[in-house]
Amino acid sequence: MTDSTLLGKHIVVGVSGSIAAYKSADLVRRLRDEGADVRVVMTQGAAEFITPLTLQSLSGHPVAMELLDADQESAMGHIALARWADWVLIAPASADTLARLAQGRGDDLLGALCLATEAPIAVAPAMNNKMWSNSATQDNLNLLRQRSVAVIGPASGDQACGEVGEGRLLEPLEIIAELKQLAVPGRLQGRHVLITAGPTYEPIDPVRFIGNRSSGKMGFALAQAAQEAGANVTLIAGPVHLPTPSGVQRVDVETAAQMREAVQRSVAGSDIFISCAAVADFRPLQTEANKIKKTAGNALELQLEPTVDIVSEVASGDNRPAFIVGFAAETQELIRYARDKLERKKLDMIAANQVGQGQGFGVDENALQVFWSDGEASLPLKQKVQLARDLMTLIIRQFDAKNTTENS
Ligand code: PMT
Repeated sequence: MTDSTLLGKHIVVGVSGSIAAYKSADLVRRLRDEGADVRVVMTQGAAEFITPLTLQSLSGHPVAMELLDADQESAMGHIALARWADWVLIAPASADTLARLAQGRGDDLLGALCLATEAPIAVAPAMNNKMWSNSATQDNLNLLRQRSVAVIGPASGDQACGEVGEGRLLEPLEIIAELKQLAVPGRLQGRHVLITAGPTYEPIDPVRFIGNRSSGKMGFALAQAAQEAGANVTLIAGPVHLPTPSGVQRVDVETAAQMREAVQRSVAGSDIFISCAAVADFRPLQTEANKIKKTAGNALELQLEPTVDIVSEVASGDNRPAFIVGFAAETQELIRYARDKLERKKLDMIAANQVGQGQGFGVDENALQVFWSDGEASLPLKQKVQLARDLMTLIIRQFDAKNTTENS
């Protein structure tokens, strides 16, 4: 859908060597349909797949390819392009281009431009699925993400090489939709966002606990999305094995009681609270000081007591943030239970996901049904990092709407 998000924006489209380079022609055309001013930078490899003339005709500007070409440098050299750009979007980004960016190589025009620009950079990878899943590529991507490079896609499906899997370039309209979501930096500038993520572990004895399958991926992706939108982010994490998104302040906890305490310490001054953690609903009434011994044939009975519902407590408390988002993890009747939690827990928004059998918990992809008092949205299955950006866009919209209503 065309809107004003990219109107008048200066976008450098970097095209690198991949069979998917043909899609960059359509991407450039559609970016111009959005009102963006587009300049194209091609690598030598890209020119093996698509001609500079095609991209010149579609962008309306000469295509830049050479770092050390006096004519090109005098027209708009890499420093001028770096300053001109509001966005650098590399689509397709080959495995080699990602590796070069991760290394900070400046020996070709695209690399030098990326080093010199202060504009945000987004890459839309395209490559064979084995190259994509190779740990060298994944390490490079993690490094780039830590440097706040946004990764758009890839999609999965049939590949040009005849294989099937992850690594296909997203379609141009999908790339543009993602870019628009990313074009919200600054919308949460000066705001404080508090997020909980991961499971809690409730000890039975010194070696055993009651836990759940949450990996923290969804909550950490939300922390990254909030940070990208300019917020100061505090992330209260249960026991997970994930790196902290750059620029995010992380507090590690283990039990529901510790998570509750950490939330209470941070909630005053928070504008938005997102309760994504899978907090244990029950904990053992008592924790044994020593390891419980197995006695042959005897069952063990555990008495459990309910934990405090953290998000409900915050929503009814004195330091209530202006906007509270809860999650609902359901195995059945998703919509009914989610709507009930939205109301019962006094939330502003609830993001409901179907869980169980490879869904929701632990996996890299997720889908959400989002509800608020007078609206709803369906966010289809995507990588959690991208889904989190979509959800953050909805949150920002509803947060702004609530602020406007309350201040008018
Ligand atoms: O971590 P991942 O592997 O990426 O998986 C993501 C996820 C499936 C864990 C996530 O998307 C999700 O659904 N998180 C909420 C899980 C959950 O506990 O749902 P619930 O329906 O039981 O709880 C409803 C809401 O109450 C949640 O916002 C929860 O954080 C909150 N709650 C629950 C119990 C409690 N004692 N305190 C709470 O604050």
